[in-house]
Amino acid sequence: MDKLVIEGGKKLQGEVPISGAKNAALPLIAATLLAPGVHVLRNVPDLRDTRTMLKLMGHLGVEYRWDGDVVTVDTTKLHHGEAPYELVKTMRASVLVLGPLAARLGAARVSLPGGCAIGARPIELHIKGLKQLGARCRLENGYVDVTTTKRLQGAEIYLTVPSVTATENLVMAAVLAEGTTVLKNAAKEPEITNLVDMLIGMGAQIEGRESDVLIIHGVSQLRPADCAIIPDRIEAGTYLLAIAATGGEGTITHCNPGHLLALLEKLRAAGLVIEEGKTTVTVRPPVLGKKLGSVDIITRPYPGYPTDLQAQFMALMTLADNESIIKETIFENRFMHVAELQRLGAVIRIDGNTAFVTGTMGLAGAKVMATDLRASSSLVIAGLAASGRTEISRIYHLERGYERLVEKLSGLGAVIWKEKEEEVM
Ligand code: EPZ
Repeated sequence: MDKLVIEGGKKLQGEVPISGAKNAALPLIAATLLAPGVHVLRNVPDLRDTRTMLKLMGHLGVEYRWDGDVVTVDTTKLHHGEAPYELVKTMRASVLVLGPLAARLGAARVSLPGGCAIGARPIELHIKGLKQLGARCRLENGYVDVTTTKRLQGAEIYLTVPSVTATENLVMAAVLAEGTTVLKNAAKEPEITNLVDMLIGMGAQIEGRESDVLIIHGVSQLRPADCAIIPDRIEAGTYLLAIAATGGEGTITHCNPGHLLALLEKLRAAGLVIEEGKTTVTVRPPVLGKKLGSVDIITRPYPGYPTDLQAQFMALMTLADNESIIKETIFENRFMHVAELQRLGAVIRIDGNTAFVTGTMGLAGAKVMATDLRASSSLVIAGLAASGRTEISRIYHLERGYERLVEKLSGLGAVIWKEKEEEVM
């Protein structure tokens, strides 16, 4: 297993390009199942998760080819709808094939994703919605078995929680249904709009993009897509927070500032200088050498403050001038990074879903362990800001969602490298 080693205390400087969004690439790859033929997806990030999704597609009979960040997907030979436990257990987002397979083949058998480090993460909303569209769903031996005797039927569906992947699964199921589906309290993350735009490009009829009510008029068939993945707003936010935590000055490029408004508002409130361009954001330290200000956040569905940037923001707040209050309202167990940040000298107290972070003069390097994707990126940020050496183990979590992380951070002047982890006897 690999670990990351960071010699901290260097101010990050310069430019860093943002890759395509993981959480858009996964549903858009799954959506190609809806139409037989050759699809072209552009700006696809090369990540452990996108490779897992493509491997799953291969398992279903789909052929694909990478050419730089362009992936060509040929779904002509799709021959069955089973997503095995062995693949699903490595990536819960595999559940995103459920809707398209039910719509295209009338049958899907997908392993239940099981628990996750950040929360229980049930999928009952996905299943309930598919049942409302007329599918028969049975849970058996750890699998959800979906069958339909005829085309899915349009329905009115109200999501009790604006779940991101449930919205994506049900939109993909409804585009080939007979009649109209109205999806209320739908999630409206930019990744969902990327999916809706792809489906409209394939011939789907969808109204209400970017809103929490999606109206989908089913069509009998769709054509292959040629579509670009939007920039990764979570990767973008992570780099802005890393640059800020080191007291550096830098610009992220190839991003969409409009997707980062909740974060940029908090960075400005902390006293950081933020400049937005059309596809760039520049962050500079507070003026006149002022100390970073403490700021409170509450995670919310989009356009609120994203839960996927909560841990990284906490790492920044460990260096602020006072106490900040961080409330996590999306997942019930998303403070796994706190104990590891405390090993670097952070002062954090937890009370239920709220963390009280008292800013300190500085962090000191230590050995820490990654527990999930975003928690591990908060440890990287803290390690970059800390004096001395930090070693982060279990970095496979990071490779799931950050493309060329070591290379990109080195490009900003970080002293960081990957090393084989010594085997513990
Ligand atoms: C998506 O997960 C993202 N993953 C997550 O990013 C992100 O944290 C999350 O949305 C919230 O923004 C992908 O897009 C692949 P949800 P998803 O369903 O869809 C509850 C990352 O780091 N819920 O919107 O699984 C659920 O338990 C990952 O990139 C139900 O109760 O999240 C949670 O509390 C981590 N029943 C809340 O809704 C359901 O059937 C929001 O979860 C479904 C969800």
